[in-house]
Amino acid sequence: MSQQQQASQGSVPAIGQPTSRVDGRIKVTGEARYGSDYDGGRKPTHAYLRTSAIARGRITRLDETAARAVPGVLEILTYKNVGERIKPGKIFSEQGYMGTSIAPLASDRIWHDGQIEAVVIAETFEAAREAAHRLDIAYAEEHPSATFGSPGLEVKSAEASSKEGEQKSSGSQGKGGQSKEGEDGGEEKPQVGNAPRAFAAAPIKIDQRYATPTQHHNPIELFTTTCSWSNGLLTVWESSQNVYGYKNGLAEQLGIPPERIHIVSPYVGGAFGSRGSLTQRTALIAHAARLVGRPVRLEATRSQGFTIATYRAETQHRVRLGAGRDGQLQALIHEGWEVSSRPDDYKVAGTDASTRLYACPNVGSKVYIVHADRNTPGFMRSPPETPYLFALESAMDELAYALNMDPIELRRVNDTMHEPIKGLPYTSRALMPCFDAGAQAFGWSRRDARPGSMRDGDWLVGWGCATTMYPTQMGAASARVTLSPDGQATVRTATHEIGTGVRTAVAIVAAEELGLPLDKVHVEVGDSELPPAPVAGGSNSTASVCNVVAKACREVKAKRAAGTQGAIEVYAENIPHGVKPDGIQKLYKGQGNLAGGAKMKDRIQFAFGAQFVEVRVHAHTGEIRAPRLVGAYAAGRIVNPKAAKSQLMGGQIWGISAALHEATEIDARAARYYNDDLAEYLIPVNADIVDVQTIMLPETDTQVNDLGIKGLGELGNVGLNAAVANAVFHATGVRIRELPVRIEKLLGAPALRA
Ligand code: MOS
Repeated sequence: MSQQQQASQGSVPAIGQPTSRVDGRIKVTGEARYGSDYDGGRKPTHAYLRTSAIARGRITRLDETAARAVPGVLEILTYKNVGERIKPGKIFSEQGYMGTSIAPLASDRIWHDGQIEAVVIAETFEAAREAAHRLDIAYAEEHPSATFGSPGLEVKSAEASSKEGEQKSSGSQGKGGQSKEGEDGGEEKPQVGNAPRAFAAAPIKIDQRYATPTQHHNPIELFTTTCSWSNGLLTVWESSQNVYGYKNGLAEQLGIPPERIHIVSPYVGGAFGSRGSLTQRTALIAHAARLVGRPVRLEATRSQGFTIATYRAETQHRVRLGAGRDGQLQALIHEGWEVSSRPDDYKVAGTDASTRLYACPNVGSKVYIVHADRNTPGFMRSPPETPYLFALESAMDELAYALNMDPIELRRVNDTMHEPIKGLPYTSRALMPCFDAGAQAFGWSRRDARPGSMRDGDWLVGWGCATTMYPTQMGAASARVTLSPDGQATVRTATHEIGTGVRTAVAIVAAEELGLPLDKVHVEVGDSELPPAPVAGGSNSTASVCNVVAKACREVKAKRAAGTQGAIEVYAENIPHGVKPDGIQKLYKGQGNLAGGAKMKDRIQFAFGAQFVEVRVHAHTGEIRAPRLVGAYAAGRIVNPKAAKSQLMGGQIWGISAALHEATEIDARAARYYNDDLAEYLIPVNADIVDVQTIMLPETDTQVNDLGIKGLGELGNVGLNAAVANAVFHATGVRIRELPVRIEKLLGAPALRA
């Protein structure tokens, strides 16, 4: 996009015009205040967490003498003085607000390594830290189960876990916690036809197992919380993807009305799902602030963030594909195993998407939860699709080789405008146009399909591709729009700026609707005193919020046209298709109420894309580079192509990082993370990512919502894992089915010895 096409100051912007961020300047100059930038005013005190050194057992001694003797120490919270004063709370997928049901100071019980076992409050950070280290704690340690393959795991089918809590309804973020066949059409175990029989009879078969590692989001803004009480009112400064959820969840935990809690989170320094649900730290800091009668500020360490917040759990998969010699799928069976904590049934169950991507008359699926002595996992960018599409899209590539068919043609043969389980129509689906546009930009027609056949000096060149998909979801939302007589508009809605540029998207929509230049529109977000908006998760925010803002603006225009004098103020609510009538109530309670994706009764709605990667593997050293990426996407109407392109490109870059570098390593004996810092957590730098192309195809979808927005926050990273592994196979002939793709997995490959 050229600079000339940019919306300029003074002109009325339009949806679809590349627009620089309205808050770009204050972000880069440091003026923007993030949750961590507040200290609570009035002589703040400092908190430091002491976290457990074992993964399973009980605390047998907790001696505070030496810690209390540290000058400046004000209070120490342990299970002895907290206990049931803070209620544990239910996890998000069970209609709660928490990322974990494990209440760390409820008893002497230790459920996982790095569990909070004490909170020290002191005049200075240093005093709090020193006292935390001086706490004398001893344990009765039990043998922990760390991960797949450990003794003592408890494996449950996801259906069994759903039946156990009969009333656990499917009010998740629209992912992660969906249970059984619900009123909204979501189900536990998508299946149709007779998949085992069709698989047995198929002339061409793939039957393989895949695995994805533990990953931690590591937003650059650390996990911080600052709490202050004044006249029985609690203010919490904490970066959040769900300010109404935090307010209501915290109220439940503290046993006070939600009206007495104010959550402030105007800017968020990275989230990726880690700030979607409430962590147990927030109530502890609120409780501490009440006890000491002063503001308390917690800044957890980078390492503590690995165990006090959520993460992407490791998964295993078995995929069976049966096809005719023409490539048409006859059977698809996808089984998944996912690690969770002992008490929580958290799961992502990506079979919802993976069973609906391609036409197939016989489909089977099953998801198992594997309970280990670990902290509860949670949302991380494209939680279900990332691991489950790695498995499916790797298997599709294997099938293409087995058929001696181009992998793009294999997708074309199995393309469909109806999902195969119930035959529901896709509202729109431009998967093959994405493959065609991506292939064109990438130069795919020049690919020699034989593994190891494309070589550039000492480098083995591999080209791979994969599908990306992400559900189009929306929640009930509200907004207030005020138009002053001098032509200034203010839009207020408690959505969240998690880096996606939502203020700008909202400003564009309001400015276009009201016919105002962009600088006459002011947008307020990230505060629980504003009209509620859904959790900034599941890529729903742009669609949910822009539609309700447009609705409010149209009412403002109608009032103006009807001759209303003076300032005009309109409050609007919107309940999208598929959201039940209690959606507004749930919205005010901060509970999950997203509808869309594969969870609807009458239709299915997803955004799609095709992702291409060139890898180069050094023939002598095995070094793997990924110099060239192309992604082509169709995600309905794009509100701000400039921000959308950044978002998708960021996903592609993350995808390379995830495929080649990212894994949280677990000590199987201690059920403990080894590399819990950024120094050992490799991420790609600019020099690693040479050429990234991001193409957005125009797509009109008149069904998803008034404005035709699908959302694309999480679309960009889903297909990259498989695209990289597929490219590595093409380069070397080595099929890597367990992420990340690393040099040692290529050792001994014939192509590398040449
Ligand atoms: Mo995203 S994992 O839905 O916050």
